Amino acid sequence: MERYKTNLMQAFKRAAAKPEGRMGSDFLEAVLRERPDLQGQRAYFPAQGECGHVVFIGDEVFKGPQDWMLFDYKDQPVGDFDKEHETLSQLQGCGLPVPRVTCVGRQAYFYGMTRMPGVTLTEAFKTMTDKEKRDAAFDIADFMIGMAKALPPQDGMYACQEDLHGNNVLIDPKTKRLAAVIDFGVVSYASREDLARCVSWSPLEFYVRAAYKSKKAALPDHPAVVQQKQDLPKPLDVLEGFTRMSPLNNMKLGECR
Ligand SMILES: Nc1ncnc2c1ncn2[C@@H]1O[C@H](COP(=O)(O)OP(=O)(O)O)[C@@H](O)[C@H]1O
Ligand SMILES: [Mg+2]
Repeated sequence: MERYKTNLMQAFKRAAAKPEGRMGSDFLEAVLRERPDLQGQRAYFPAQGECGHVVFIGDEVFKGPQDWMLFDYKDQPVGDFDKEHETLSQLQGCGLPVPRVTCVGRQAYFYGMTRMPGVTLTEAFKTMTDKEKRDAAFDIADFMIGMAKALPPQDGMYACQEDLHGNNVLIDPKTKRLAAVIDFGVVSYASREDLARCVSWSPLEFYVRAAYKSKKAALPDHPAVVQQKQDLPKPLDVLEGFTRMSPLNNMKLGECR
């Protein structure tokens, strides 16, 4: 929680944008102030998410929190935006089909990334044959394993893109194979057995679970480290308990010195 608060403070300092209009025109202005090279390119707002502005400009996609997030939900959301570009940067060079971060705003809170090809899985799914679904599911399972290998495990758990639903997975409309995975705002950690939970909202859920089951041996099964918080008794409390049960005589006390 502390980390989120710190990020929020940074976000306030960096938020050069004026109070934003509904269509994000001020967000666009803030991006253009820092990236004048984009002037004259076409800008397009795809369907907006609940938490952020997303705008396509030329070959890039820019993302940042909406105004209400900065002001009303002070405890957490900005941290997700910070995490997303950090995660994407960590995944660069791992051979996974994810966007490359192109810039991070200095005055306003946003980052840019490459625009990935493909149509959403939600859209592609409507016309996919059973074989195409199975092939795409294997691609997604490979992606999950690749990501789990690429990021350092935590407490024996593997990183996963927790939000692998149909709009965050892009499919090549011709081959119907995986083109890209986007939206790394929600990265969490799961055991090898539990990693496939990230496809719970995918139209390919059962196909991916089956594919993952046949491939998961590629990941070593770390025993998850369960952090147990114990309040250890203080040494004097132990001594006091001991003397209550078996009073110490001088000789024994002497031995202790
Ligand atoms: N790098 C990208 N390449 C192509 N399309 C993208 C990219 N990033 C976002 N989009 C499009 O914008 C939509 C919203 O972006 P996303 O990162 O999923 O934000 P949200 O957190 O609002 O879901 C996506 O469903 C996708 O259509
Ligand atoms: Mg999304």
